[in-house]
This record gives sequence, C-alpha cells and structure tokens, in this order.
Amino acid sequence: MSVKIGRNDPCWCKSGKKYKACHQAFDERIALIASQGHTVPPHNIIKNRDQIAGIKESCKINIAVLDYIEEHIHEGMNTAEIDKIVYDMTTRMGGIPAPLNYQGYPYSVCTSVNDQVCHGFPSEDVILKSGDIINVDVSTILNGYFSDSSRMFCIGEVSPEKKKLVQVTKECVELGLKEVKPWGFLGDMGQAVHDHAFANGYTVVREIGGHGVGLEFHEDPWVSYNSKRGQEMLMVPGMIFTIEPMVNMGKVDIYIDDENDWEVYTADGMPSAQWEIMVLVTEDGHEVLCW
Ligand code: MF3
Ligand code: CO
Repeated sequence: MSVKIGRNDPCWCKSGKKYKACHQAFDERIALIASQGHTVPPHNIIKNRDQIAGIKESCKINIAVLDYIEEHIHEGMNTAEIDKIVYDMTTRMGGIPAPLNYQGYPYSVCTSVNDQVCHGFPSEDVILKSGDIINVDVSTILNGYFSDSSRMFCIGEVSPEKKKLVQVTKECVELGLKEVKPWGFLGDMGQAVHDHAFANGYTVVREIGGHGVGLEFHEDPWVSYNSKRGQEMLMVPGMIFTIEPMVNMGKVDIYIDDENDWEVYTADGMPSAQWEIMVLVTEDGHEVLCW
C-alpha cells in the first residue's frame, strides 16, 4: 500500500523541500500520461542530485578505462590483456569492475570480436588480428554507483563492409540520443536507432537491449531498439539509461554458447557491432554521462 504524500510533507526525492514545491506537479503530469495508457517511470528509477553526482564519479572511471584501451589496443594483443587492464585500472582508481562475479560472469570486462554479439569472454587464446572488429564493454561500481559503456575498435586493416557496420552502429546511437528528452517516449529513441540500421540493410538484435543504470547495474526500464515512436516508457528528468544497440550485418538471429551460457553469437556467423552510452534525461534534454 502506498500512502499519498501530503502537499506539505517532505518530497520523496529527498531534496528536503516540501512536496508541493518539489515533485508534486511532476507527479501529476506523470499520472495524467499514465491515465492515457502509457508506461511511466516509478519513483525509484528517478535519480536525485546527490545520486547523479555519485554516478558521474563512477562514470569518470569507466571513461578513463575505455580511453586507455582506445590508446593501447593493438593487433597481436590477446583479450585477457584487456581484462587485466580493466581490472588493474578500475581497482587502482578505487572502483570495482561491475561484471566480475555478476550473476556468475567470470571476468572484469566483455570483449566481443566479429560475430560475437556481446558478453565475449576475454581469453589468452583470442589474439586480435588485422581485420577484426571488437567491442569492449566496461562497467564500474564506485561507492555503490554504477556506470556502463562500450566502444568498438577496428584492428589493423578492416574491410570497408565491417568499417561501415561499425560506423553506422555509432550513428544509430547518435540518432537515438537526439530523441532523448523529457516527456518523450523511449520508443522515439528506439525507432530512430532501428530505422537507421534498417536503412543500411542491417538488423537490430531483439532479445538483448539497454537498461536503466546507476543505483544498480541493471534497473528498469528495459530498453528496446525494435520499438515505435510514442511507445514504451515515458522519459522524465532524472532517469538514466543506456543506449546500446547490437547491430548485425546479416540476419537478426543469435545464439548463446551452451558451454558457458554467456557468449552470444550471430546465428549466421556475420559480424555484429555495438556501441553503448549512458544518458541522463535532464529538464531540457539530455546529458551523456558515459561513452
Ligand atoms: N555491460 C553489459 C551491459 O551493457 C552487461 C554485461 S553483463 C556481464 O549491460 F555480466 F557480463 F557483465
Ligand atoms: Co549496458
């Protein structure tokens, strides 16, 4: 049972202000949109100022780790070396790699090469060679706050087809981002992502999407990129979620390695690309917290 907050009670967001001077009008606006049949965010995924400040500190580590990898990733390197860099750098900066032991995940980072869609295991046996494309997906916990982002890297001489896949996937994220603003819907973003991939002859993985993030690694909402404008959850200031489409050059189908239950591959063996950013919905648009 939830008890209605009185106008003069302290606001649920812990601002210390009275409800009527803080989130009352905001809640009324959300309730109206809910009454029109839309999915709306619960209070527990709307971050306050202190939480956003803490999350941004976590993001600083995530960005620094990915910047370092961007500088140092090279042909001939194995992906276990990337795992070690992520672990060492994150812990030196006071953080914890969020993937490590997450639901049994055994490494500090996901490294997904070519036809690996996501959750690739770092390994001494996976040696980066010229022509490879790789996604490095880094997530950090700092003081209980979570950050999550990933980038693609092209190793040596990459074919024009694969380079285009990497570039178009980045554009998908950028076009989706443009749609992130308060009182819009996640489907506005999702459709923009999907339309651009589709226009280039690609498919967008359906089963795995983005997510709310910040206070937990994976929070509501689940974020689809096979959604339609005006649908999915309402976006409001204080929400934080990822945009992280997995874009396949070939067919949309994927499978999970049944030996480890983690690594995801394209069913047709064609390459897949992914970029991930973490975005905050602000009063007048958005702020990218992590990339
Ligand atoms: N970083 C991934 C994401 O974007 C999650 C990886 S799950 C893990 O949500 F267990 F591998 F860490
Ligand atoms: Co993510």
